[in-house]
Amino acid sequence: MRTASTAKFISRKQSPRAIVLYIFLLFAFSIFIFVFNAGNIVEDHPAPVISIQSHPQTKFLQTADDELWDAPSRHGLRPCVKPTSRYKGKIYNFSLYSVAFFFWSSSFAEISDMVAVAHIMNATLVIPQLDRRSFWQDSSIFSDIFDELHFITTLQGDVRIVRELPKELELVPRARKHFTSWSSMGYYKEMMQLWNDHQVIHVAKSDSRLANNDLPLDIQRLRCRALYHALHFSPPIESLGKKLVDRLRMRSGKYIALHLRYEKDMLAFTGCTSGLTDAESEELRIMRENTKHWKVKDINSTEQRIGGFCPLTPKEVGIFLQAIGYPPSTLIYVASGEIYGGDARLSELMSFFPNLVFKEKLATKEELNAFAKHASQSAALDYIVSLESDVFVPSYSGNMARAVEGHRRFLGHRKTITPDRKGLVRLFDELESGQLRETSSFSDLVQQMHKNRQGAPRKRKGPSPGIKGKARFRTEESFYENPYPECICRSPHLSGYGMLNRDGRFPGYELQAMSVHGAAAI
Ligand SMILES: *[C@@H]1O[C@H](CO)[C@@H](O)[C@H](O)[C@H]1NC(C)=O
Ligand SMILES: *[C@@H]1O[C@H](CO)[C@@H](O)[C@H](O)[C@H]1NC(C)=O
Ligand SMILES: *[C@@H]1O[C@H](CO)[C@@H](O)[C@H](O)[C@H]1NC(C)=O
Repeated sequence: MRTASTAKFISRKQSPRAIVLYIFLLFAFSIFIFVFNAGNIVEDHPAPVISIQSHPQTKFLQTADDELWDAPSRHGLRPCVKPTSRYKGKIYNFSLYSVAFFFWSSSFAEISDMVAVAHIMNATLVIPQLDRRSFWQDSSIFSDIFDELHFITTLQGDVRIVRELPKELELVPRARKHFTSWSSMGYYKEMMQLWNDHQVIHVAKSDSRLANNDLPLDIQRLRCRALYHALHFSPPIESLGKKLVDRLRMRSGKYIALHLRYEKDMLAFTGCTSGLTDAESEELRIMRENTKHWKVKDINSTEQRIGGFCPLTPKEVGIFLQAIGYPPSTLIYVASGEIYGGDARLSELMSFFPNLVFKEKLATKEELNAFAKHASQSAALDYIVSLESDVFVPSYSGNMARAVEGHRRFLGHRKTITPDRKGLVRLFDELESGQLRETSSFSDLVQQMHKNRQGAPRKRKGPSPGIKGKARFRTEESFYENPYPECICRSPHLSGYGMLNRDGRFPGYELQAMSVHGAAAI
């Protein structure tokens, strides 16, 4: 506003005094910027997000616009995925085809883990067959979701990837292997013994097979190259995703992507029934009872919720975002499957934020037709819109939410507000029981609680203290949720250098160039 009025002032009277004043202002402004940027990096302490002064005339604390929307400072950090000088790539001689390796999978993390494992084991990777037995009930194949050729060629210096098992290996006996979860490099080197007796290993399970931490830098960076360079969505998905983002930007410039996990199966699986009717709770219990591969049958919903293990309900999300300070007019893209309870339950969120949009509202029927029957392709669209959003808010920390959060960190610490579900549930209950007024004190507490949960740079968290043995791996922050420090570095002297990938292109996700904020920040 100040610049605008200065500009007006200058155009009206172009006296030398005004020009001197203008230059002075510019000078002062650049000093300000310099001082601002020279501040030392304080990990996990972004600029305070709370405006302390309260406005008695408003129901909630007023939060300044830029505090709501601006990404946390990235402190000069950049993506870095180039191999070190010690790295031995694999340039395969295709006539020497000897071994193969394939697995079932459905997620980014699993695919890129298997790229790294294949590299360690000197194996040829067969393009993954997506897991059709999961509750996604989806017949998509890899190339429906990802750009297969791009995946193969981008990684050709790292690992050999083939579309399918070669004919001559189809009938040879396979080693069917459940690799141990969270294994180290040493484990997989040892597993190379399997090649003495087998030419093909069938990896039966591929989730969390590779450790988050204590792996060589080059293996971690290979994971990032696989994730952020090699795995691009297929052209039809990429193109529609881009259109959806453009349409959102045309509507209001800025938007929140809310990953609202509130599907029937996820509620049945977690046993979370807070806010549901008795009939609904019973329906979920029966579903859990009848789903064989869900091991835990007897769940106390109250305890789940108090422990912070339940997704926020649509209503709770509404209360939460309002308390953070977002005005009711905020445009919110809802990334989700089918919401349990349908429109009635969604209206509990809509009463706080009427400006909710779904892909079904942004795209035409014809555009969505190709994806409609494929949950994983539809989720890919949500992934793109979430990745490009100004603010990403997951109501639950599932695989996709983690992958999006990590990708946003990689691309420049875009803002991700991660609800502290355990803390929030306590506050919601105090609000409900009248211990807290639904006014500034509640809002203030919620804002304090989330001051350091906005996606600012910080190193990946290790295991929870006091937990020993294998169980500690479960408590670590996943590599995919936060690839810092291995794939995000500070390169004051090499800015630019570390940013180009092998073919000289800017690394990262292709779509970043279209995001006004992402591109400007990079
Ligand atoms: C592949 O290996 C064979 C035998 O060692 C060699 O003659 C040939 O030149 C190699 N081809 C390439 C492309 O490296
Ligand atoms: C890795 O595979 C290549 C090609 O099959 C082979 O030439 C090389 O000796 C292997 N390296 C190890 C360590 O087994
Ligand atoms: C569930 O846990 C809560 C809190 O620990 C307890 O009060 C309640 O009785 C439990 N409900 C059942 C059905 O066990």
